Amino acid sequence: MIDKNPLKIRKMFDEISSKYNFMNNLISLGLHRVIKRCAINELEIPYGVKILDCCTGTGDIPKLIKEKKPEAKITAIDFSPKMLKIARKNVKDVEFIQSDCTFLPFYDSEFSIITIFFGLRNIEKRQSAIVEMKRVLKTDGQLLHLDFGKNKIPDCVFTFVVWLWAKIFMKNTDAYEYLLNSKEEFLSSVDLIKEFEHNGFRLKKEKKFLFGTIAMQIFTK
Ligand SMILES: C[S@@+](CC[C@H](N)C(=O)[O-])C[C@H]1O[C@@H](n2cnc3c(N)ncnc32)[C@H](O)[C@@H]1O
Repeated sequence: MIDKNPLKIRKMFDEISSKYNFMNNLISLGLHRVIKRCAINELEIPYGVKILDCCTGTGDIPKLIKEKKPEAKITAIDFSPKMLKIARKNVKDVEFIQSDCTFLPFYDSEFSIITIFFGLRNIEKRQSAIVEMKRVLKTDGQLLHLDFGKNKIPDCVFTFVVWLWAKIFMKNTDAYEYLLNSKEEFLSSVDLIKEFEHNGFRLKKEKKFLFGTIAMQIFTK
């Protein structure tokens, strides 16, 4: 089992923050943004609704939502101060809050839409984060989750590419070893859907990208 102690994970993201966007673009050849945009396009975003982005990192998701809906009222949270510092420069007119996703500082049913991209996999108390997201989501609201799926052949290619770029561009490759291990250890889409359903969500839509390397689900409650 990988050690996902929140202090350790926060420190790791603080340390890689300055290279995070560069490495994402390199590893995915820029495709990560295309996929994120496709996933966001699957959401129905009515005018003026409140949106929460959990594990926002450098603010990619709020930025892409704003491209589609400039008037969207977005709150975005992350526990890494250094990732948030970049996010604040990356996108304006978004409320960024430093907080842990396992304890959301919001009222019940405050948001119509919640997004969490490449986040849940890193959370030690995943169940607590799911319960908290359910609490702050409105009834009939949408939760969009996206992360790596499981598919053996593209996975080998991905592992090689991550290993190679990390060796070339990073002094310390620990974070990218963690990425590969956490991806390997993470739930399959089937088990992830079961976990959300066990916590009171209903699956509305599922979509896979790049031959299943990445999977997204939209849940309602
Ligand atoms: C892989 S990044 C994803 C960033 C962004 N969502 C994206 O798709 O590019 C994961 C982010 O989750 C944050 N994170 C991990 N565990 C967290 C927790 N328990 N509470 C808040 N943020 C967390 C990390 O600090 C990091 O910025």
